[in-house]
Amino acid sequence: MSGDKPFGVYVHWPFCLSKCPYCDFNSHVRHAPIDEPRFVRAFAAEIAATAQRAPGRTVSTIFFGGGTPSLMQPSTIAAILDAIARHWSMADGVEVTLEANPTSVEATRFRGYRAAGVNRVSLGVQALDDGALAALGRLHSAREALDAVAIARTVFERYSFDLIYARPQQTAHDWARELARAIGEAAEHLSLYQLTIEAETPFAALHAAGKLAIPDGDTARTLYDTTQEICAAHGLPAYEISNHARPGAECRHNLVYWRAHEYAGIGPGAHGRLDIGGARHATATEKRPETWLMRVEALGHGLVTDEILTRTEQGDEFLLMGLRLAEGIDPGRFSALSGRPLDPIRISHLAQEGALETTPDGRLRVTQSGFPVLDAVVADLAA
Ligand SMILES: C[S@@+](CC[C@H](N)C(=O)[O-])C[C@H]1O[C@@H](n2cnc3c(N)ncnc32)[C@H](O)[C@@H]1O
Ligand code: SF4
Repeated sequence: MSGDKPFGVYVHWPFCLSKCPYCDFNSHVRHAPIDEPRFVRAFAAEIAATAQRAPGRTVSTIFFGGGTPSLMQPSTIAAILDAIARHWSMADGVEVTLEANPTSVEATRFRGYRAAGVNRVSLGVQALDDGALAALGRLHSAREALDAVAIARTVFERYSFDLIYARPQQTAHDWARELARAIGEAAEHLSLYQLTIEAETPFAALHAAGKLAIPDGDTARTLYDTTQEICAAHGLPAYEISNHARPGAECRHNLVYWRAHEYAGIGPGAHGRLDIGGARHATATEKRPETWLMRVEALGHGLVTDEILTRTEQGDEFLLMGLRLAEGIDPGRFSALSGRPLDPIRISHLAQEGALETTPDGRLRVTQSGFPVLDAVVADLAA
């Protein structure tokens, strides 16, 4: 396998101090201490098993996601990075990102993470308003989050933070002020997510009971447009539907997903895409942390799903992921993956509606006005 093809490794840490009422990520609260050395052994075993199936790769990006990876000891991160380096080569300038919750306790570990090899941190700030943070069930204040951002700035070469907008009662005016303040604190990258009501979360129950009102479609659209205008005016254009960066400062790991490259998923509930023997494998591991541990200890890996994607599935996934990017997709790569060209009639129809455009170098991308209806555009093209 060629060393210059991107290859990402995603490592999932499935624990949090408390469960935020909007979140449906694979995250769990445990009252007993977590046996980190036992998890390290299991992560190392799963890395070895994955490398045996996909040998010879050069790792270009690593992402510790969660859950709350900033609850891990720096020595745990170092041991996992060592295991990755034992089984695959590391590219020069490998990007190593860690998701962190912005509390003062976690910020005290930042130097340890840096020493372990983390060179980029992504902080879950979520809001710069204490009332909104409390309503989101967060354990930190805006001040504490900004202090964590300031520490991240001094410790890591690169940092980003997440905000959630289209929150209950949020007006475009309030959001514009909050976003401008956030940009003042951001260096090169911001992730800006519209609040989604995820099924089976406490927010979904409150919403269904009429006790949690979120902005209606028109307001959400205004908030989205405001986001694009303010970020672009400050040199942080969207390179993906929810991600903004100065040119060159994009999260290279997430680009691996969106550009349909290869990645290994390590840890409870992690997904992977591996090209083995000419077939594209979609993998997933057991979600429940303790069951995953036992499975890895018994079998050497936590895999519960390993499906070969059909050409149609590969083409659909390529559209779904690639059209989220401002750079769009290469229609030739779609044809190579799916075995059929995109339908020119559908393309011209979507172009007439102003949702899709072809760039001078022949790429196909969703327009500013197409992004708010991205799902419909993808469904139309994939049909
Ligand atoms: C795995 S989570 C967060 C990492 C870290 N545990 C934290 O909370 O700071 C990644 C990001 O997804 C976003 N997110 C999670 N649930 C969301 C939802 N229902 N709607 C919008 N954004 C959400 C948040 O911005 C969060 O920071
Ligand atoms: S948003 Fe972050 S801290 Fe909150 S439950 Fe989800 S993963 Fe955990």
